[in-house]
Amino acid sequence: MNLIFLGPPGAGKGTQAKALQERFGFRQISTGDILRANVRQGTPLGVEAKGYMDDGKLVPDDLIIRMMDAELEQGGNVILDGFPRTVPQAQALDDLLGRKHRSAVAVLFDVDQDVLIDRLTGRWTHLPSGRVYHERYAPPKVAGIDDVTGEPLVQRDDDKETTIRKRLAEYEQLTTPLIGYYDNPADPRLVKVDALAPIDAVTKQLVDMIQNDGGGRASA
Ligand code: AP5
Repeated sequence: MNLIFLGPPGAGKGTQAKALQERFGFRQISTGDILRANVRQGTPLGVEAKGYMDDGKLVPDDLIIRMMDAELEQGGNVILDGFPRTVPQAQALDDLLGRKHRSAVAVLFDVDQDVLIDRLTGRWTHLPSGRVYHERYAPPKVAGIDDVTGEPLVQRDDDKETTIRKRLAEYEQLTTPLIGYYDNPADPRLVKVDALAPIDAVTKQLVDMIQNDGGGRASA
């Protein structure tokens, strides 16, 4: 089974992708983490993407689709964390998966906007691995230090309140149409989880859904 994680910034997509990766061996493909690695390494993709990311805007579809085409060349079951985010990206993904005879279930992280600023401004990230913590909801054992490597945690440049508000506006305008795209009565491919629940309770909903074969929506 392949999963597409859909939901606004701060909904918990990365947190849950890491939990399921450990438990079921999915490969997490986070477009945000790949882009941030490119920015850190100063690649041409990173140089082009940085301005959009710092401004809370989506990176242009053609760059993202080319990047994902290469990522999906590798096999194994994947969690797509942060892709697709626009209707053209979803159409390109259907095309890519179709060519590889694969399919995917979309999981919508259903959450109220009011909690998102608090989640994101309290988030601390281990950039090399993409592991995330929260100063109150999921604190590291030692403040500011990654539990696994002992390396420092940082706050992401785009987790400032003004940038978060722009990211939320981009989500509303460009990504919410994907809910209808995947919740199509002729070909239902959308499952919802209550992402307002505590972290472990969200994981349990996802584990139940996977063990129930995507609520009957998964075929490969
Ligand atoms: P990306 O890195 O994908 O960011 P995002 O979608 O904005 O998502 P986040 O990583 O902010 O949130 P999340 O849902 O993963 O939450 P998390 O688990 O960390 O994208 C960044 C940028 O890259 C974009 O703005 C864009 O520019 C570009 N980009 C990426 N993909 C693109 C694409 N496909 N097309 C174009 N551009 C693209 O959790 C957040 C915090 O809450 C953490 O501190 C966590 O500990 C805590 N938390 C999680 N769950 C819970 C819970 N249930 N209860 C309490 N706290 C919780």
